[in-house]
Amino acid sequence: MSADIKNAATIESMIRAGADALPYSQSPRLDARVLAKFVLGCDDAALIARATDPAGASAKKKFKEFVFRRAAGEPIAYITGEKEFWGMPFRVTRDVLIPRGDSECLVETVLEHTDKSAPMRVLDLGTGSGCLLCALLNELPMATGVGVDVSARAVEIARENAKALGLSGRAEVILSDWFSNISGEFDIIIANAPYIPDGDRPDLRVDVSDYEPSLALFAGDDGLDPYRHILDEIGDYLAENGLFVVEYGSPDQGAQLRVMAASKLPNAAQIVIRDIAARERGLVLSRRAGKRD
Ligand SMILES: C[S@@+](CC[C@H](N)C(=O)[O-])C[C@H]1O[C@@H](n2cnc3c(N)ncnc32)[C@H](O)[C@@H]1O
Repeated sequence: MSADIKNAATIESMIRAGADALPYSQSPRLDARVLAKFVLGCDDAALIARATDPAGASAKKKFKEFVFRRAAGEPIAYITGEKEFWGMPFRVTRDVLIPRGDSECLVETVLEHTDKSAPMRVLDLGTGSGCLLCALLNELPMATGVGVDVSARAVEIARENAKALGLSGRAEVILSDWFSNISGEFDIIIANAPYIPDGDRPDLRVDVSDYEPSLALFAGDDGLDPYRHILDEIGDYLAENGLFVVEYGSPDQGAQLRVMAASKLPNAAQIVIRDIAARERGLVLSRRAGKRD
């Protein structure tokens, strides 16, 4: 591998050699292109324009190092330190979960149920990189929001992201064990809490189990410990007409959550969130009058 990258004459041949060295990646060519753009500091258009340019020795050396890291299983986002979510760039380190495209359906769901021009308070439980909080505040110009995380390093990253995205005037990020440092009521509470059952660790892909923070992944025997805790207290923090929107991992978890939610918020309408492939992704509990799933 290293010899091929080292001997690549052009940028295109360097990318090809990089892709060849990533046989276990689900998208070797794409990975190699992203790493090449990162090394060369260029965008897609420039990469195409420079395809036949000579590949410099220092670029090849760096590229080779990053390809090695990717080949060992490290996610691309931790190598580049960035991941796009809701069309916005988020800085990520191994202290935070890499934002998942699937979680964008939580943002879509909130927006479908919300008057964008109304002033409102948003709470993001387990904010990680701050991706959900920042995406919502970006779409809701009159909203202010609080993100909480029990990881001090995640809190730092979320604060940095809010600042870089020009949202720090409306976003506060707090170190808190769920609601422990929170006061007041919120119109929207969103949570992508950890939900992987502890026993599923051996089934996870290496790029998740060996690289992403366990604190962001694992959640007790059935993966519902965090939501049990959150639902015990949600009634004290969700405003009269509030929405609580959560992501979970399986239809079984969804069924259990709906039962728990019915006992903790008996008057809230329940709406199941499905992605474009009709897979269950989450649940809305709405204290507003109206729909039931
Ligand atoms: C699945 S990650 C979600 C991160 C981010 N919201 C996202 O969607 O990418 C769950 C987050 O919950 C945080 N967390 C875990 N236990 C917590 C607790 N007791 N209180 C607050 N946050 C917690 C983790 O540190 C992690 O950042």
